[in-house]
Amino acid sequence: MGRKLLLEKAGIENIRQYDVYRQNGGYSAQEKAYKMAPADIIEEVKKSGLRGRGGAGFPTGLKWSFLAKPEGVPRYLVCNADESEPGTFKDRYLMEFLPHLFIEGLAISSYALGANTCYIYIRGEYAWIPDILEQAIAEARNAGFLGKNILGTGFDLEIYVQRGAGAYICGEETALLESLEGKRGNPRIKPPFPAVKGLWGCPTVVNNVETLAAVVPIINIGGEEYAKIGIGKSTGTKLISACGNINKPGVYEIDMTISVEEFLYSDEYCGGIPNGKRLKACIPGGSSVPIVPANLLLKTAKGEKRMMTYESLADGGFQTGTMMGSGGFIVLDEDQCVVRHTLTLARFYRHESCGQCSPCREGTGWMEKILQNIEYGKGKMSDIDLLWDIQSKIEGNTICPLGDAAAWPVAAAIRHFRDEFEWHVLNPEESQKRNFGLAHY
Ligand code: NAI
Ligand code: SF4
Repeated sequence: MGRKLLLEKAGIENIRQYDVYRQNGGYSAQEKAYKMAPADIIEEVKKSGLRGRGGAGFPTGLKWSFLAKPEGVPRYLVCNADESEPGTFKDRYLMEFLPHLFIEGLAISSYALGANTCYIYIRGEYAWIPDILEQAIAEARNAGFLGKNILGTGFDLEIYVQRGAGAYICGEETALLESLEGKRGNPRIKPPFPAVKGLWGCPTVVNNVETLAAVVPIINIGGEEYAKIGIGKSTGTKLISACGNINKPGVYEIDMTISVEEFLYSDEYCGGIPNGKRLKACIPGGSSVPIVPANLLLKTAKGEKRMMTYESLADGGFQTGTMMGSGGFIVLDEDQCVVRHTLTLARFYRHESCGQCSPCREGTGWMEKILQNIEYGKGKMSDIDLLWDIQSKIEGNTICPLGDAAAWPVAAAIRHFRDEFEWHVLNPEESQKRNFGLAHY
């Protein structure tokens, strides 16, 4: 049984309520942290090796240390709770079932950063969760863990919940800031990074829900202890949301020492693939990361066991590896059609493109049309090369990573499953008959 740091208390009845959370050791990390100097908290987070859990894996302590501190200018902590990556639903679990753990993480992090205002920007589709969070915020405030002069430190903190309106692009940190400012969610060009010029032009740290919740166990056990869990630079525990063709879909906390095979097949986690089917492929880190076929998922290019770590999942680069990403683990069994799956994703990215950059605006729609033709038996062999060409011209040529995220799934699908694309072209009549509709995650 792997170590649990975030979901340790998840099974306790009524843990969502303040009293129950408190009776079970809740808010003791905040009490400990508020006796420390803010710089020492940042040091603990650095020592822990915690990496951003939203998808990019950027070292959290380093990001915090980049926060500019000009005189007389407010600083902000913004929590990115706009979890919209297809296949990813781990932040929802934390916010819905352990809201006080999350709020405690925000309170500690805000104190460490000297931010008196913290915003939670939550995706619009999580319509029922803001009420849960607002209730937890009110309870924490009544108990003296938020508000004015918290725990007698002289530190004030207000946390506000802002609902998004259902746009995937508002999960990109600068689009999120634009939206928070009341504007259309168009990504900004970086640099400047938010740490220097963020919300209303002020220094801002933007962190994911899980990242901020992880600060609680880091303070409880200490950064060094946290760093001992895991392998290499993949320290601590990670939440994985598992879905697709598996026996036990759900949210799991893993310590990053287990293999992909163990995660997929053991009863503690996904419990294998239903009806004795064979594994075809997997997207281990949410829809934006490359799909990998079964043989490369379980073993790296060097023939070693692939582990559930940032480094091992990425081993081999995009040729043979993939990414940890947001931890949205999507499994496809032998019956799934990779072309149809890629079309579903292409449709999603075309719909969600904000339209600022031409390669993304034009390319995503163009790729969708070609994939639609191939999937439904109206494609030509040359379309496969055209698709490859389009994706290669989007990648790296856009303002924000949505362009890359739209290109990579197409590239990986062609790289590993070209024969399936060719099958559709060579078998137009059968392709036309296979009208499954779109895949849903
Ligand atoms: P990024 O690599 O551009 O940035 C990572 C973070 O580090 C950002 O907060 C950035 O401001 C900061 N940073 C980087 N260099 C910096 C510097 N020199 N100074 C100060 N700060 C610096 O990646 P980004 O755009 O934040 O995230 C992309 C990832 O998000 C994708 O790989 C994907 O996996 C994931 N994603 C997750 C979603 C979800 O629902 N969880 C949705 C869509 C994408
Ligand atoms: Fe908008 Fe796409 Fe450009 Fe991102 S890459 S800024 S989503 S057009």
